Amino acid sequence: MGTIRTLISEEEIQAKLKEMGEAITEDYQGKELLVVGVLKGAFMVMADLARHIDLPVEFDFMAVSSYGASTQSSGVVRILKDLDQEIAGKDILIVEDIIDSGLTLSYLIKSLNVRKPASIAIAALLWKEGIQRVPIEVKYPGFSIGPEFVIGYGLDYAGKYRNLPYVGVMEGNPDE
Ligand code: IMP
Ligand code: MG
Repeated sequence: MGTIRTLISEEEIQAKLKEMGEAITEDYQGKELLVVGVLKGAFMVMADLARHIDLPVEFDFMAVSSYGASTQSSGVVRILKDLDQEIAGKDILIVEDIIDSGLTLSYLIKSLNVRKPASIAIAALLWKEGIQRVPIEVKYPGFSIGPEFVIGYGLDYAGKYRNLPYVGVMEGNPDE
């Protein structure tokens, strides 16, 4: 395995999630908020962000197909696990680990909009600046990063490294 260079530290991530959680708490006062995590990558963000949302909020998860073992977006999105509940009339906040091409989210937003929620907004820890193939409006953005492939804090390479408490970049050949 190659070495891993820290791109965003654990402290930076936690400080940002606190800010995001406080903004969400302010914006959704008196609303019926359902926070939707996109598995598997968003599991870390969900757990830490949730602790900074001071509202009677509900949580649910969706799972969509990702890149498999490749580091390139295929553009093909498949829902592997749908929400457990109806969302009509609810305010939805989708939580993502990272927005790359934007294809996954635009597909999710489209398919959730059909169910007539009151609103849909996005919180994403990371987004790759300038390479979205479809424009996505991120209401609660974390960090903008370059086009490099990152791992850690929920993000995987071939299923591994999700448990790192920071976001890093693999240097050298990851298969060695
Ligand atoms: P998109 O549809 O191209 O926006 O891809 C979004 C999904 O691809 C994310 O939810 C991640 O699961 C995965 N992904 C995109 N970029 C990276 C990366 O740099 N490292 C790990 N996973 C990534
Ligand atoms: Mg993902």
